[in-house]
Amino acid sequence: MKNNLKSKGLIICCVLVLCMLSGIEASAQFHPAIPQSFDSDLAPFYFGVASGDPHPGDVVLWTKVVPETGSGAQQVTWQLAADSNFTQVLKSGVAMAKPETAYTVKVLVDGLEPGSYYFYRFRNGGRWSPIGRTKTTPAGDVEELHLAVISCVNYPSGYFNALEDLARRKDIDVVLHLGDYIYEYGGGGNRKKGFSRPHIPPHECVSLEDYRSRYAQYRLDPQLQEAHRLHPFIIIWDDHETANNSYATGAQNHDPRREGSWEKRKAAAVQAWFEWMPIADNPAENIIRKFSFGKLADLWMLDERLTARSPQARGVDDPALTDSTRHMIGEEQRKWLLEGMLNSEARWKLIGNQVIFSPLHDSRVFSRNPTVRMDRWDGYPAERQKMFDFWYAHGLNNIVVLTGDVHTSWAFELTADPLNPQVYDRKTGKGVIGAEFTTPSISSFNFDEVVPRFITWEAKRRFKRKKHNPHLRFLDLNRHGYLTLTLTPETARADWYFAKTILKKTDKVKHCGPIILQIDDNKLFKNRIK
Ligand SMILES: [Fe+2]
Repeated sequence: MKNNLKSKGLIICCVLVLCMLSGIEASAQFHPAIPQSFDSDLAPFYFGVASGDPHPGDVVLWTKVVPETGSGAQQVTWQLAADSNFTQVLKSGVAMAKPETAYTVKVLVDGLEPGSYYFYRFRNGGRWSPIGRTKTTPAGDVEELHLAVISCVNYPSGYFNALEDLARRKDIDVVLHLGDYIYEYGGGGNRKKGFSRPHIPPHECVSLEDYRSRYAQYRLDPQLQEAHRLHPFIIIWDDHETANNSYATGAQNHDPRREGSWEKRKAAAVQAWFEWMPIADNPAENIIRKFSFGKLADLWMLDERLTARSPQARGVDDPALTDSTRHMIGEEQRKWLLEGMLNSEARWKLIGNQVIFSPLHDSRVFSRNPTVRMDRWDGYPAERQKMFDFWYAHGLNNIVVLTGDVHTSWAFELTADPLNPQVYDRKTGKGVIGAEFTTPSISSFNFDEVVPRFITWEAKRRFKRKKHNPHLRFLDLNRHGYLTLTLTPETARADWYFAKTILKKTDKVKHCGPIILQIDDNKLFKNRIK
């Protein structure tokens, strides 16, 4: 009897411990402050829905559930329909939300028609998720394509107003997110304007739980959530998804004495990223991939951080700067990109790129002495030159490099050496093989949030001096927003949309543009912005 009681007691204890562990496991998906922002109307889909990596016949659907009890895997049913009332359900199925992937769910739906809108939703615990809208990429002859390009979404710095404007647009085929989806810092805020929305967790992200919590906080933002709900995204990471100025084996903002092993931190950051992004999982946890938009455009999305990047050089006198064995993207990725471009029959060749690719001379802007931004392609000149050499040697043109990271808006004529008259002529367009357009930040600090406004105007004037940067055709250093790229067989057109403010919620934006890249004679910037 005594033994019986003992064993019953043991069983009860075990059950209690298991229940406690279950509860811990469930709550450990994010910081305890996260549920305080939950909108109960959305339960259990507090983070909304998303779609991504569209192709002509398939797309990835994403959601996440927050189980109310227990920690076991959750069954989630999904539907995809041709209409938003779901009168024509075309595809449906069941997926599992598992604790080991933080209850995120990804479904790769195939058998779809190219260039078509679809609506989708999920169901769990008797509740439907919000209805998402997505679109497959087109195939064959394509008359027009509309891409939106965004990057640098910083929660403490301001509201994501530009995303609200982007969300409601009906003319966008796909959104390219070029990285800095989150920022890893504990603090933050709008330095000059006294605005802050504190980060969760309040410390720097290092562990898996930290990164998961940070994504959870960003994805609870209704403006970001709405942009995901209404558009498919193609996303790559930049540095802040791991740590500032990251490279394959470390980062400027990673001190092993303080934060432990880089490999462990990187693995946690990458795991959380793949859990939260609407991208198909792959065993290599690789973000390097290609998309096609019929005969109109091919798009190569690069990894300039964690695959092969060598550490940044320490300065202009560091011999590493010109060392031809240093990499930004590495031999394998470069070969994949260049051969792909050579074999591409698409009219436009687009590169989704993290950091400024074009040579940029800013030695007379901030200092009398030569300066090089070591984290950009200027800090990896040998590898960049190999790419230009290849493009020139094979007569490739109609290249559009799309860039994030820099928090400001730039348009360059794409040329290897803008100060060398043998290579480039601003008047005739000699040596120009395309354009580079950078998207401003959605909210991360830009010039006038760091230095007085008169300095930003002076910096702009100096950057635009023809003797320093003759290939620079548009520059805005002070505004937040996004870029759109409109492609037709004849033109590539860039337009910028700037949020009126990021300090209070508004959906008002100001249009600036267009800048048009004309294909017929490779003459760039037919319509220039004053
Ligand atoms: Fe950034």
